[in-house]
Amino acid sequence: MNITYHEQNRMFKLDTPHTSYCIGIVDEENFLGHVYYGRKLSEDNLTYLMRTKEAPFVPSENNRDRTSFLDTFPMEYTGNNLGDYREGTLAVRTLGGHTGVSLSYVSHRIYDGKEALEGLPATFGEKESCRTLEITCEDQVLHLQVILSYSIFADTDAIARSVKIVNAGEEAVYLTKVLSACMDMDNEEYEMMTLHGSWARERGIQTRRIMKGKQSVCSVRGESSHQEHPFMAWKKKSTTEEEGEIYAMNFVYSGNFLAQIEADQFGSIRAVMGIHPDNFCWKLEAGESFQAPEVICMYSAQGIGGMTRNFHDLYREHLIRGIYRNKKRPVLINNWEATYFEFNTQKLLDIARQASELGIEMLVMDDGWFGHRNDDNSSLGDWQVNEAKIDGGLKSLVEEVNKLGMKFGIWFEPEMISPDSELYRAHPDWAIQIPGRRGSLSRNQYVLDLTRKEVRDYVYDMVAAVLHSANIEYVKWDMNRQLSDFGSYGLPADRQGELLHRQVLALYEMQDRLTREFPNLLLENCSGGGARFDSGMLYYSPQIWCSDDTDAVERLSIQAGTALIYPLSTMGAHVADCPNHMVGRVTPFATRGYVALAGTFGYELDVTKIPEADRNMIPQQVAMYHQYNDLVRQGDYYRIAHYAENHYYDCYEVVAKDKSEALITYIQVLNRPNFHSRRIHIPGLDPDKTYVIENTEDWPEIEQTQYRGDALHYAGINIPPIRGDFQGRLLHLKAR
Ligand code: DGJ
Repeated sequence: MNITYHEQNRMFKLDTPHTSYCIGIVDEENFLGHVYYGRKLSEDNLTYLMRTKEAPFVPSENNRDRTSFLDTFPMEYTGNNLGDYREGTLAVRTLGGHTGVSLSYVSHRIYDGKEALEGLPATFGEKESCRTLEITCEDQVLHLQVILSYSIFADTDAIARSVKIVNAGEEAVYLTKVLSACMDMDNEEYEMMTLHGSWARERGIQTRRIMKGKQSVCSVRGESSHQEHPFMAWKKKSTTEEEGEIYAMNFVYSGNFLAQIEADQFGSIRAVMGIHPDNFCWKLEAGESFQAPEVICMYSAQGIGGMTRNFHDLYREHLIRGIYRNKKRPVLINNWEATYFEFNTQKLLDIARQASELGIEMLVMDDGWFGHRNDDNSSLGDWQVNEAKIDGGLKSLVEEVNKLGMKFGIWFEPEMISPDSELYRAHPDWAIQIPGRRGSLSRNQYVLDLTRKEVRDYVYDMVAAVLHSANIEYVKWDMNRQLSDFGSYGLPADRQGELLHRQVLALYEMQDRLTREFPNLLLENCSGGGARFDSGMLYYSPQIWCSDDTDAVERLSIQAGTALIYPLSTMGAHVADCPNHMVGRVTPFATRGYVALAGTFGYELDVTKIPEADRNMIPQQVAMYHQYNDLVRQGDYYRIAHYAENHYYDCYEVVAKDKSEALITYIQVLNRPNFHSRRIHIPGLDPDKTYVIENTEDWPEIEQTQYRGDALHYAGINIPPIRGDFQGRLLHLKAR
């Protein structure tokens, strides 16, 4: 890991363990250009790549074709409205109503470690394990400074980029667009990978050829969303799971975003990522600064899987915090699918009693314990226990659960307000709304205007009071509607465009407060399932509920898409009852357990009502979780076969960092008449080691022999046919 500046070549070079990233300064006007990102290079001087000798370069020599220069040059971070017609990253409006930004290099600083981003989640690193380059650029007319930050890490290949805008002028300016990263490069027939979905179908992987023009994913819903994801990758067509080049960007942010690749007239591409400019306008007073969120840039020459493992390592080591970051999580049972709103103390204790006997370690009381909430029409904002349901009070319920040897967890939805609530009756102006318009309800609720300090303090205090009232060791922080009607009674007219970003900052502030005040709490974020499963939220909670779809087959796709970027340790995954409440499918209880094992593992069912045979399997599943979770949480993840692609079977593997063991999960979704076994290849093992199957009793049909690591990878292993659909098996390999 190293960052250097070569005075003579006017070139910065960032070297991560396996990659290099180069930035050059060009012309008398000191334009900052992107020169190279890819495999690690020994060469320091790549000025010859900058095309400065080609017409119409550069303005000091050819100012009559200035726009041609600006429209062609690979900018490191771009301005607006001066001749670069590609997507810009920074746009402003002055008090006089003018636009136009041009950035020139002014100075730089290189230092050990990484400074925190004020009010925002971001990766972190110690002085010994991380190094940062800060380049200050300036628009000399507006006196606007733009500080570009690049941090690299000794142990992973990521580059964490962010941007800070400082108004060094004498009057306010409106920032109408501040994206966080830009990367221009020649297009080598790249394909773009993105994640798409919907409620209960989050993060399906989509790949498309990059065509001329703009292709993007975005959210304008106030959260990162079920629909599209703040991630994009671009790769060569020949890149596979294990080989070939891939670039990626992931936004460490939980609100509106734009992730876009533009293929231009000259055969170059421009990839940009940042806060979506729609409905964004930030008034920056003289002397003030604006910090844009972080984008993680990744390059891997080890295929899609290499990119995935880099993200996993980065987030496990440099993003996720708190006592649970690398700790086994208690096996929980959540009452949502068990009871929905129909529960009381007795019912919860019945579930807890039975669950504790089976080895389950925590009871989570989901939605419906407060106000008079007996369905989803009321009471959000009234965070007082409904003693008609929780008779005897919360403290006594928690004590009873604790007596069973179980922990207790609770559900909140702090960002919301129901029209039918004491809170709304007292403060109707606390909802986000446009004055004079009928508010758009969703799930019969409004979003609280958390940009107002009095609102977030009030709600936070209610939540904290509940948490202080009993021994609560886990919180599920839910958020069940997307934002609309962007208007705030708390913001002046010229700051209404700040609402959406301020709302995200307010959420971060509340979660920061919560995690500081309750450092031992296990926090799980959630948003109508997995609508806010993003790296921003992972800074506050080590796990996030993946999806409201608990069907084992649907989960294969959802979890594979999620694990494309996020470590398995972060994926909230439960065994639910069948027929599955979402899709009506019946899958074997054992298979549901194998699929949930890829995440945090827990149960979402009425354990007093499920078939006895299923119930009897729970102690075994809990033991399986305890046996494998250290490996699943900490190991290297490999996708072997993807059911969403082949439609028949799914297979993934987690290999210990020291290659001493591996766990392979094989799910045969649909059976086919077959004459012989299916060959699968098992990568990631030590080619010089011999492996044996440890759990022979789980899969007696598989050939019991000794396997060499390279043979497992390149020659493969024969998977015997399994009778029936939705059948799962584990294969535990251990080095001898
Ligand atoms: C959405 C969550 O994803 C569910 O698990 C559940 O908590 C409901 N909200 C409760 O309203």
